[in-house]
Amino acid sequence: MSKYLLVGNWKMNPQKEVDVKKKISDFKKHSKGLRGVDVVICPPHVFIQSASRFCSGSISLGAQDMFWKKEGSYTGETSPEMLRGFDVQYVIIGHSERRELGETNEIVAQKTSAALESRILPIVCVGEKTRDEEGKYLDEIKTQLTESLRKVPKTKIDSVVIAYEPVWAIGASSAMDSHEMHQMTLFIKKTLIKMFSRKVADKIRVLYGGSITEDNARDMIELGNVDGLLVGRASLDPKQFALIYKNISNAKRRF
Ligand code: PGA
Repeated sequence: MSKYLLVGNWKMNPQKEVDVKKKISDFKKHSKGLRGVDVVICPPHVFIQSASRFCSGSISLGAQDMFWKKEGSYTGETSPEMLRGFDVQYVIIGHSERRELGETNEIVAQKTSAALESRILPIVCVGEKTRDEEGKYLDEIKTQLTESLRKVPKTKIDSVVIAYEPVWAIGASSAMDSHEMHQMTLFIKKTLIKMFSRKVADKIRVLYGGSITEDNARDMIELGNVDGLLVGRASLDPKQFALIYKNISNAKRRF
């Protein structure tokens, strides 16, 4: 039985290194005694080294992005090996905020396979910008999944984590309805079964992301039928993030 995955995406926060230690140690304090959930904290690259000193036990370190080349003349980029050096275990790939800056499914595919090659677990983000009555957004999700996972070898596919994040629910006032998420989880699983096999699809963890708080986290897990959550704003508040942890550690298992 795999544990729920709780990923905190700090985005371009905090501004000062001293707050990195404070956030992680406060989170540890507030979540003391809780178990049953794998927590991943994804600080900005410049704070990875600092965060690596404080992440321990059930808290792993993640990055928010990564380049696909091993080394060379790529100004401003960070290689998988550099991240491995600080024990980074997960990497968010293709977040909608990066896609907005021009990241394509092709780039996401390259980064996903490079992460796997370096033994970093990729959290591949997909999600539609808007919804339409005819259900064309489902084609968009299908295309994102097929093209982004195109380069993943069958032997490594079960290390991939999919994060479904509808763009319209990110940074919004409320999350997507958990029953609607249940439909989306089924759709994603169905697509993965077609691409790979049922056995493989069963092993791929599907997360939800977009305006998760301590109030909707448990419902999203239980009713949305997801394996975990990708949390933005609420992950910056250690107390709130710990409450999300607590609420999902009490969630009923579907297995
Ligand atoms: P949010 O962000 O929780 O602040 O909506 C989620 C994300 O962008 O990953």
